[in-house]
Amino acid sequence: MKSSFNPYNPGAGTPPPELAGRDPLIDHARTAIERVKNGRSSKSFVMLGLRGVGKTVLLNEFEQLAESQGCQTAMLETDPDKPLAAQLAPLLHRVLLRLDRVKKAGADLNNAFGALRAFAAAFKVQLGDLEFGLVSAPATGDLVIDLTDLFVAIGEAAKKRDSAVVLLIDEIQYVQKGDLGALIMALHKISQRQLPVLLFGGGLPQLAKLAGDAKSYAERLFDYPPIGALDEQSARQALAAPAERESVRYSEDALDYVIAQTGCYPFFLQVWGSHCWDAASKSPITLADAKRASANAIAALDEGIFKVRLARLTERQKAYARAMADFGPEPVNSSDVATALGLSLSQAAPIRDELIKKGMAYSPERGLIGFTVPKFDEYLRRAMPNKKGKAS
Ligand SMILES: Nc1ncnc2c1ncn2[C@@H]1O[C@H](COP(=O)(O)OP(=O)(O)O)[C@@H](O)[C@H]1O
Ligand SMILES: [Mg+2]
Repeated sequence: MKSSFNPYNPGAGTPPPELAGRDPLIDHARTAIERVKNGRSSKSFVMLGLRGVGKTVLLNEFEQLAESQGCQTAMLETDPDKPLAAQLAPLLHRVLLRLDRVKKAGADLNNAFGALRAFAAAFKVQLGDLEFGLVSAPATGDLVIDLTDLFVAIGEAAKKRDSAVVLLIDEIQYVQKGDLGALIMALHKISQRQLPVLLFGGGLPQLAKLAGDAKSYAERLFDYPPIGALDEQSARQALAAPAERESVRYSEDALDYVIAQTGCYPFFLQVWGSHCWDAASKSPITLADAKRASANAIAALDEGIFKVRLARLTERQKAYARAMADFGPEPVNSSDVATALGLSLSQAAPIRDELIKKGMAYSPERGLIGFTVPKFDEYLRRAMPNKKGKAS
């Protein structure tokens, strides 16, 4: 059918035509925002899930929710190569400028601008003109202390303006370890004082462990809702509803087939939906259309994101990943991978860590290692059939 009417939206962070199956998380966020806005305590949360499950899409949704409630938002996609201070300062600057527009400068806002200026100086961050701001005490250069002071000052300014500040941090697993500890400490202080600052995060599933290491009470301070494949009914809706709006139906067996092929993973639902649309010549989309679409979808993924991901690996990382792939889609014991490679655990561990650092693999718990993208194991077995680590 005509590509120009294709309703599906595969891509990183691209809004789906039907945001299916996420109402509980959205309601959770809405309640948290409303509570914090009304001066009540509210728990920050960090969604943990593999790539392509819809974390970024939800963070964007929460940002809109917060804005529509009159909150000031700061959205950060974490850059693994930059310290948190350098990434946060410009966003917090923008928040302060917007709070200033809500109600003109008072002592509280001057104080917050002053804290930001001191913070920026201590961490050598260039900001635009900080024309406001008292000359406040210089920051200490210790992120735990300075970020806490800054959050408190911003929280107080927001509170005076009946507003709230909502931080949205994507790819939060890339926040450097000490920085994550500081972030958690600062939010801890904020929650003790019931100031209106809230964090929503998204990241790969090893994060809870990272945060746990960073500060032991992190587990109590945040919720870590897991986010994964959709339930089957929501997956059907994600596929069928966008087509229906274009007066196109799926036959029952076609829908069953696509559901099975995608494992109900949001990104794959968009990819398969899009290929089904292109493969069918008219409504309804039949099983035969869906089968052709599925072959095309797999070929497109192989030539696209999977190939790109594989190309980012060194030879020894490829060999490690290929050995993992033999164990199937679920996380596997890294000692088994080492054995399969004929390496000792300590020889294999650095390779495993490189894969984690590149965001290709994650460790759901000590000793286990899994791929961050569903179906990547299948791809590796297809692309490297001879196991030797050589792509064919
Ligand atoms: N609830 C959903 N229903 C249908 N499609 C979704 C849903 N959430 C996300 N998607 C689609 O999945 C893809 C990946 O979403 P994204 O937010 O980038 O995932 P993540 O950030 O977890 O890697 C996008 O194409 C998006 O449109
Ligand atoms: Mg994302």
